[in-house]
Amino acid sequence: MTETPLVHLNQVVLAFAGKPVLNGVELKIFPQDRLVILGQSGGGKSTMLRLILGILKPSGGEIKYKHLRVSRLSRSKLNLLRSRIGMVYQYSALISSLNVRANLALPVRELGRKSESDIDKLVEEKLAMVGMSGTEDKMPSELSGGMRKRVSLARALMLDPELVLFDEPSAGLDPVMSSVIDELIINLTEKTNTTSVIVTHEMDSAFRIATRMAMLYQGSIIQEGKPEDFKSSDHPVVRQFVTGEVEGPMTESLPDADNT
Ligand SMILES: Nc1ncnc2c1ncn2[C@@H]1O[C@H](COP(=O)(O)OP(=O)(O)OP(=O)(O)O)[C@@H](O)[C@H]1O
Ligand SMILES: [Mg+2]
Repeated sequence: MTETPLVHLNQVVLAFAGKPVLNGVELKIFPQDRLVILGQSGGGKSTMLRLILGILKPSGGEIKYKHLRVSRLSRSKLNLLRSRIGMVYQYSALISSLNVRANLALPVRELGRKSESDIDKLVEEKLAMVGMSGTEDKMPSELSGGMRKRVSLARALMLDPELVLFDEPSAGLDPVMSSVIDELIINLTEKTNTTSVIVTHEMDSAFRIATRMAMLYQGSIIQEGKPEDFKSSDHPVVRQFVTGEVEGPMTESLPDADNT
């Protein structure tokens, strides 16, 4: 592919207190991808999203956003970059003391460019996009998990981002609500030509959403490409992950249940 990537994780290395998590992650995210990142729990998927947002800095390699080196940006440039990226957190992360309107308004108010009546209109518009019209005055605690997820998706869209990062968007939701969220991700990103990265364990969701996939294993990307290629992968780790089989390289080091 000759297209310029929107994000490039270039040989990214990261360790926490000497424990390596990423050891040379190489991954390009191209405009209008819906890139699904697969990988084991604790493997470093959320960490990759935090690196893209510039919340964490790599100990080796670099993250490029277009031509920008994320880890070298000044505080103000980094804030500007973050306003171009929407993030939907694993557990929605709405502020519990603020109602839906105030939660959504927050990122826009911080930029200080819009009047209150414009912000109200924007809140209304984004809530309509996720099928949550009329919930402006509700508190997060009054919403179900699926509703909170949709509100946090609306919040991520408030600044019309060019990239949206989803960390486990269907975690903790029933199968129907997770399909609803999947459809929203597909429709909203298509309608707005937004690029997205989706971290998920749910293989049904992954194959529904992905235009590209990448699998993180033991600190590096072991396969990257089209969803079809993942379905028919020859890589034993990818095959075990995609089919969810108990026997395979991912579980070799686990104690045998019969013998313990
Ligand atoms: N701020 C931190 N300080 C120390 N260790 C951390 C920190 N953040 C993550 N880790 C460690 O890095 C590893 C990767 O964590 P990460 O949250 O990225 O995994 P994940 O792939 O998102 O897992 P899950 O699927 O369970 O959400 C884990 O071993 C975790 O304990
Ligand atoms: Mg995670």
